[in-house]
Amino acid sequence: MSASESKHIANDLEIRFHAGGEDKWSADVALIPLWEGENVRESCAQLFDAAPFLQIAPGMRDVTGRKNEINIVYGHPDLAYSRVMFIGMGKECLSSNNAMDVLRTAYAKGLRKARAMHFTSAHIPWSSLERFGNAERVLEEAVYACVLANSQNARYKKTTREELTPCLEWLAVGFRGQYVPENARQAARRGERSALTVIQARKLAAAPGNVLNPVTYAEKARQLAEETKLRCEVLDETALQEQGFGAHLAVGRGSSHAPRLVILEHAPEGHEDEAPLVFIGKGITFDSGGISLKPSANMHQMKGDMTGSAAVLAAMLTLAEEEVPRRVVALMPLAENMPDGNAVKPGDVVQGYSKDTIEVVNTDAEGRLVLCDAISYACSRWKPEVLVDVATLTGACAVALGEELGGLFCNDDELAERVQSAGHCAGENYWRMPLWKGYTKKLESPIADICHSAFGRAGGAITAALFLEHFVPEGTRWAHLDIAALDWSEKDTPLCDKGATGFAARTLLELGRGGAA
Ligand code: BES
Ligand code: MN
Ligand code: ZN
Repeated sequence: MSASESKHIANDLEIRFHAGGEDKWSADVALIPLWEGENVRESCAQLFDAAPFLQIAPGMRDVTGRKNEINIVYGHPDLAYSRVMFIGMGKECLSSNNAMDVLRTAYAKGLRKARAMHFTSAHIPWSSLERFGNAERVLEEAVYACVLANSQNARYKKTTREELTPCLEWLAVGFRGQYVPENARQAARRGERSALTVIQARKLAAAPGNVLNPVTYAEKARQLAEETKLRCEVLDETALQEQGFGAHLAVGRGSSHAPRLVILEHAPEGHEDEAPLVFIGKGITFDSGGISLKPSANMHQMKGDMTGSAAVLAAMLTLAEEEVPRRVVALMPLAENMPDGNAVKPGDVVQGYSKDTIEVVNTDAEGRLVLCDAISYACSRWKPEVLVDVATLTGACAVALGEELGGLFCNDDELAERVQSAGHCAGENYWRMPLWKGYTKKLESPIADICHSAFGRAGGAITAALFLEHFVPEGTRWAHLDIAALDWSEKDTPLCDKGATGFAARTLLELGRGGAA
């Protein structure tokens, strides 16, 4: 079975625009998030022109905006616009730091409720957004949330579409004027593309290890790149050998699927020679731990150990599609970490692309080995303007920060802020962690130039980051995102079904777009 034959559910939510006044609007339901205590008659006065029945509907008595409260108020069924769903958001006011998260969640909940009721369409009146301040930003995020809430994670079941929770067919934004304002249209499209990026990353990340191995994954990347005019180069094991990727190759030695390095480049006209923004994503298609074998409980989750590369690929595809006016390069070092007579062993010394020798003490610390070669290669080939790597790198980071925060390690304060604000815009949050120089001594090896993993678990996310930093040349601005535990959600949430989350894809997209909106 190849990935393209898998039963991905078509979850496209067509985005439409209704102009020309309220009497031209139609949809199964209007989605209206509400703060607790908000006087909807005042704050959404224009909604009452589109749905005059709200003036007298008895159900309006129950609309309070309390958190988690959803009310649908009905008009005569013959009306083209006869249901309004009020989604309570509680008391968190707009000035608070996480208001956008609250709004995203509200729209997603509303959309899921509409799905559960077998509606086929929903509507957002532009006038209902203006009370939130920046209407364009809110529209962008509303569309983002609705497209994600309407999507279902990739499945490999032989169920038919009808047996699954139904999806909506379209979402419309309604305007009172004759024309659709260009800025609103752009905002909606931008939110739509952001959501499709995350969906793409989720689909790739959810693919089992037997569907995407380094070879088939590289092919998939090539095929997706071709569709979007993204330049794609794939180095196979021979090329990697010839060019000295000794650390990367060591990780894949126990697998019957040889390693690959996928190189993607977006270089629009006039920007061909500029120093690129470089993304690197960890692409371990399955991490058994190798000879330092992992315990079997939860080992199946290690098919998600290529989430960093999935985020990188998905973001690149959208950046190319959007023709962003800057040069962006991405590297996806791919390998499968397996035990075998040929596999790398604890105690082995390998030589990486930088020519440094590396003592491998625990074959389960494989991510940093593929990443260090990619970092060295990127820095020698391109002199990156900025380098960002994303990896499900350490269980220690998951222990430190839990499942809502990614770890951010960065050698430049301004870049750290850029990453955090891109993440905030994306609804993906990062906590800055220290590159504490005192711990570099933990990486000293008695036999090689560097040891890839410190003895003991303490500070494991930091020592992993310090190992990577060793390969970043002085003066190169670099950020490392450790997203272990964020790649997978253990429960359904309004914006994401249980399973692959696609975390970091949108952060990279916002970075590539050139800053938070
Ligand atoms: N892919 C794992 C990290 C991981 C753990 C990701 C849990 C997602 C959830 C990584 O390759 C790994 O095994 N790291 C080891 C490093 C250790 C051997 C120094 C770890 O975290 O235990
Ligand atoms: Mn591992
Ligand atoms: Zn791993």
